[in-house]
Amino acid sequence: MAIAYFGRRYVLSASHRLHADSLSEEENRAAYGKCNNPHGHGHNYVVEVLVGGEVDGNTGMVVNMATLDEAVQTAVLERFDHTNLNFDPLFVNQVPTTENLTKAVFDVLKEALPAGELEYVRVEETENNFFQYQGQ
Ligand code: NI
Repeated sequence: MAIAYFGRRYVLSASHRLHADSLSEEENRAAYGKCNNPHGHGHNYVVEVLVGGEVDGNTGMVVNMATLDEAVQTAVLERFDHTNLNFDPLFVNQVPTTENLTKAVFDVLKEALPAGELEYVRVEETENNFFQYQGQ
């Protein structure tokens, strides 16, 4: 059984403020630095999605790109793009760090795709930082 992988990148623009209610003001500043600024700040995240599966004998494709785009659009971009992440229900009780955003994108996208198809989600926060999650 030949497994092949297909990766695609999407841009997600969103703002956030990193602040943990469980930490003191001083601990928050120490943990998050400028990212604890009360007014928040934004990122143009690059969300990289990798899917895998058998190459279809008829189409020659692993996954139909239009189907993947539709799932990402509906489950991820319509939810998070051009939003303040702090206001999403997923981040009411957890800090919207890029680690947690990566996991959130993976979890909502996994639900939207056929079982076993999603390999990992990688989110580039800046050109020097990226985070990756591949489930439990
Ligand atoms: Ni940030």
